[in-house]
Amino acid sequence: MEKLMISGGRPLQGTVTISGAKNSAIALIPAAILAESEVILDNLPLLSDVAVYSEILEELGATVSWDGNSMRIDPSHIISLPMPNGPVKKLRASYYMMGALLGRFKETTIGLPGGCNFEPRPIDQHIKGFEALGATVTNEHGAIHLHAKELKGAKIYLDVVSVGATINIMLAATRAKGSTIIENAAKEPEIIDVATLLNSMGASIKGAGTETIRIEGKSELHGCRHSIIPDRIQAGTYMIAAAATRGNVLIDNVIPKHLEALTAKLIEMGVGIEELDESIRVIGKPSYEHVDVKALVYPGFATDLQSPMTSLLTQAQGVSVLSDFVYSNRFKHVPELIRMGAKIRVEGRSAIIEGHSLNAAKVKAADLRAGAALVIAGLTVEEGVTEVGGVEFIDRGYDNLVTNLRELGADVWRQTL
Ligand code: EPZ
Repeated sequence: MEKLMISGGRPLQGTVTISGAKNSAIALIPAAILAESEVILDNLPLLSDVAVYSEILEELGATVSWDGNSMRIDPSHIISLPMPNGPVKKLRASYYMMGALLGRFKETTIGLPGGCNFEPRPIDQHIKGFEALGATVTNEHGAIHLHAKELKGAKIYLDVVSVGATINIMLAATRAKGSTIIENAAKEPEIIDVATLLNSMGASIKGAGTETIRIEGKSELHGCRHSIIPDRIQAGTYMIAAAATRGNVLIDNVIPKHLEALTAKLIEMGVGIEELDESIRVIGKPSYEHVDVKALVYPGFATDLQSPMTSLLTQAQGVSVLSDFVYSNRFKHVPELIRMGAKIRVEGRSAIIEGHSLNAAKVKAADLRAGAALVIAGLTVEEGVTEVGGVEFIDRGYDNLVTNLRELGADVWRQTL
């Protein structure tokens, strides 16, 4: 077990280059199963979840090889093996194996997902979609078994705007007979990224990124090469860290449009922002205005940035209200920030944050983005060393975090417990 040690009070200065999007990568890798020949994915983030997925595909008989951040997947000899347990349990997004294996083999058994534990993570909408396509879905001792004589296109209305369900249904529908329409679909950029890959494999998907996605099923898909979009959540995390430490950082390899909601909120606070074609410069200021933030589905403010944003809002003057309308209880970072002297109270879906300087403390991350919030909080503390436990969560979403922060001038190091 490890912890991150942070001696804060140093403004971040310099350039950080953002890697490929985690929440794309862990959908694109299973999607490769749908092809009959080699798929190459470029710009993959080197994260533990990606490594686990590579292990799962090899278990199924795919050939996987690496060349830097490029992964070559040859799925031509892949078979469908039940995976009630094993590596799938390490992932939250193991559910994408359901859509991919159902699409290719019409049958699979996958252990229920693990992953971040900030609140129950239902998959009822995924199952609703699979059943609409003709699959029988049963829960066998904590593993989901799916079987379909054949998959037929259907019209599916999502009761909840769900990234995972949208992508998972898209995966299965690309190999169904006939047309599928997903209504009330999620619009996140990662969904467009998966649709782009599938279309490069010969699928016919229109409307990804809108609330209505149309998929024409194909009997066979072929290999291709695809470069993953930059990780907007990783980029946003570094933007927030630059503002919180009153630094001056160029965040490179981003799609500024993906960060519009955050950029607008930072400008509202008084943070200096310079947008270029593929990068954003963040210029910290001595004081910030309080603001209200609503975490919503895309293109609203990302729920994955609400925890890091909470740490920044402790540095603003006055009282800010941050509400999460995607998850009702994603505030496990708040008690830890309070241990650092933050003045925050949680009321229902909202955190009420009074600007107040923070002190060094021993804190622990309960999930990936809570960990990022605690690191940012530690970077603002002028005196003493903040110790952040739960590094294993942080490593699931931020590759090269310590290296990147040290290159930006932070005094951060890993220590074995
Ligand atoms: C994806 O999770 C991301 N994870 C999450 O990022 C992100 O927070 C979330 O989308 C929202 O943007 C990955 O992409 C691997 P949802 P996902 O289905 O797909 C409810 C991170 O930190 N819901 O869009 O699981 C659900 O409870 C992670 O990188 C149902 O009710 O999220 C939630 O309230 C954390 N039934 C809302 O919908 C379902 O069948 C949105 O969830 C599915 C979801």
